[in-house]
Amino acid sequence: MNKLQNKVAVITGANSGIGLATAKLFLKNGAKVVLAGRREDALNEATDGLSGDFITVVADVSKDEDNITLIKKAVEKYGNIDVLYLNAGVAPLATTTDITTAHYNEVFDINVKGPILATKEALPYMNDNGSILFTNSIVHQKGFDGLSVYSASKGALRAYARVLTSEVKSRGIRVNSIAPGPIDTPIYGKMNLPQDVVEEMGKGFASQVPLGRFGTSEEIANTALFLASEDASYINGVELEVDGGLSQI
Ligand SMILES: NC(=O)c1ccc[n+]([C@@H]2O[C@H](COP(=O)([O-])OP(=O)(O)OC[C@H]3O[C@@H](n4cnc5c(N)ncnc54)[C@H](OP(=O)(O)O)[C@@H]3O)[C@@H](O)[C@H]2O)c1
Repeated sequence: MNKLQNKVAVITGANSGIGLATAKLFLKNGAKVVLAGRREDALNEATDGLSGDFITVVADVSKDEDNITLIKKAVEKYGNIDVLYLNAGVAPLATTTDITTAHYNEVFDINVKGPILATKEALPYMNDNGSILFTNSIVHQKGFDGLSVYSASKGALRAYARVLTSEVKSRGIRVNSIAPGPIDTPIYGKMNLPQDVVEEMGKGFASQVPLGRFGTSEEIANTALFLASEDASYINGVELEVDGGLSQI
């Protein structure tokens, strides 16, 4: 416990799933946490009853001005940032023949442009020896039908993280990515699919995982805490698969 005592952490996509579980764990470990989300009502609901030192900021990561506002509000409240966890993402389905410009723009604006712009805004305010984390995915290592644009977006983010690792080396800032396998979060309910199709898809994923099940948001939060903390002081530039072995078979 207290692995992030008095550290300032900014987490996007913090009203739900992996981001919310990580915010809770960081708070338990003594961090001051900025929870960012695009929906004020969802942020309020998620943080109702949450204890610890935190603020919420409404910010749509696909918008330049919202990324500026997010970092400004974080720094105004807590001063410089130690941990920047760019986790917000969307995974709408579209088979290759159904892809539209709107689909492409939505996925790339949120999953790629968002973290890139947030990093740009945050870097001047990040403490040396800080930590930047991305939630990536194993989807750019394996092919899953209907997720081509999503997979391409996560592949782009992985490439970006490599360059960032090098560009911030003089400041001792570590850059790492987490690549979850199937994790039980609300994201599957946001794919515009009927519930029975989501359930069938879930069973299909789970049967492929060597551990035979979905992971939990808490299992990803544990990984984020490890990578953000001094426990991972010599881990830099990696993408860590947290997927029950799915990417390895
Ligand atoms: N669950 C999995 O199986 C899985 C596997 C691999 C990778 N991932 C990645 O894990 C990350 C977190 O997803 P999750 O599974 O925890 O799903 P989730 O519960 O839906 O959380 C995603 C979060 O991102 C937010 N978000 C989406 N678009 C945004 C925008 N434009 N601006 C600000 N916030 C935005 C969502 O807000 P709303 O609540 O308003 O939608 C939500 O808070 C994503 O990057 C996803 O790609 C998930």
